[in-house]
Amino acid sequence: SAPLRLGIAGLGTVGIGVLRILRKHAPLLAERTGRQITITAVSARDKSKDRGLPLDRYAWEDDPVALARRDDVDVFVELIGGDEGPAKDAVEAALAAGKDVVTANKALLAIHGQELAEAAEESGRALRYEAAVAGGIPVIKSLAEGLAGNDITRVMGVMNGSCNYILTRMESAGLSYADVFDEANGLGYLEADPQLDVGGIDAAHKLAILSSLAFGTVVDFDGITLDGIERVSIEDIHAAADMGYKVKLLGVAQKTGRGLEQRMQPCLVPDSSPLGQLDGGTNMVVLEGDAVGQIVLRGPGAGEGPTASAVLADICDIARGVRGPVFGKPAKTLTRMPRAHADLP
Ligand code: NAP
Ligand code: HSE
Repeated sequence: SAPLRLGIAGLGTVGIGVLRILRKHAPLLAERTGRQITITAVSARDKSKDRGLPLDRYAWEDDPVALARRDDVDVFVELIGGDEGPAKDAVEAALAAGKDVVTANKALLAIHGQELAEAAEESGRALRYEAAVAGGIPVIKSLAEGLAGNDITRVMGVMNGSCNYILTRMESAGLSYADVFDEANGLGYLEADPQLDVGGIDAAHKLAILSSLAFGTVVDFDGITLDGIERVSIEDIHAAADMGYKVKLLGVAQKTGRGLEQRMQPCLVPDSSPLGQLDGGTNMVVLEGDAVGQIVLRGPGAGEGPTASAVLADICDIARGVRGPVFGKPAKTLTRMPRAHADLP
């Protein structure tokens, strides 16, 4: 069959990782999917930047919207980031032009997931986002496919590696939040806007997406009870350790008698539990279904290779012709559950 032609917008950590895998594994991917997967065109802000690999074999577009509309692009791969601006404009343009879309952009999906899902499904295109939640851990596939026969009862986990690094390092080195924050920022572990990490916003974006997929609800980022890690002190961590607990930025989503509960907050977890044992920048997602019981997924939640690995999973699915609703059931049938905490003081 005809090659699958990609247009890749964003050539930063993830975009370059995707290019590297496509170059390294082209024959393997063709064997697995039955199609050649090629890159037609790319886009980033600075054409002159040295990105460590040659780009002259691809067409260049300064404007990601123009890339998304190109006739020689079948799949638009959005790796720019941000819930507004070029990423959103280009994803909308791609769907309107009848292209499939792959994105790693959790902010975009957490804020605009419903309208984008409706647009994708109306035009019969795929909108895939495995890399948006927990980087290299295939949690979207696990929920949407592996657990399709379950009523999902709860989703929880540690979904921001930077916060987990900070909390782990505070405990192991006995350092203050401010000292470890500076250290992590200096090492480049934090987002360009660190508030996205330490404010719990990035992790809450991910939880909102998982929650929609798990419970068939319209993605509701604003419905998350949100508290970041900035107010966690070394004294809190020592007191927790004395009682046999660790402090983790934990996301929990579950259906309750009062409605949908979604929270992302620093929590005490037992030292000896899988979550308590999760050190450094790793992620862990716990999925619970009525038939399967509990599944624990653990792995790298960020970085070039792991995140690009997840992007490739989506690209391969599209190459194989795998479609399906964006959030597990048709977007128009997703429900709006009341927020469990709406009536609480
Ligand atoms: P990044 O390193 O900052 O790269 C962003 C890329 O977007 C850069 O190549 C930049 O161009 C390009 N860009 C920015 N504005 C643009 C515009 N107006 N037009 C065209 N290109 C533009 O970001 P990243 O870490 O790769 O993240 C990309 C996406 O993946 C984000 O949605 C992020 O949340 C998500 N994600 C990242 C990770 C991770 O570990 N990094 C993990 C999971 C998900 P220049 O290079 O020329 O500046
Ligand atoms: N800043 C995010 C984290 C990147 O630390 O987990 C991956 O989404």
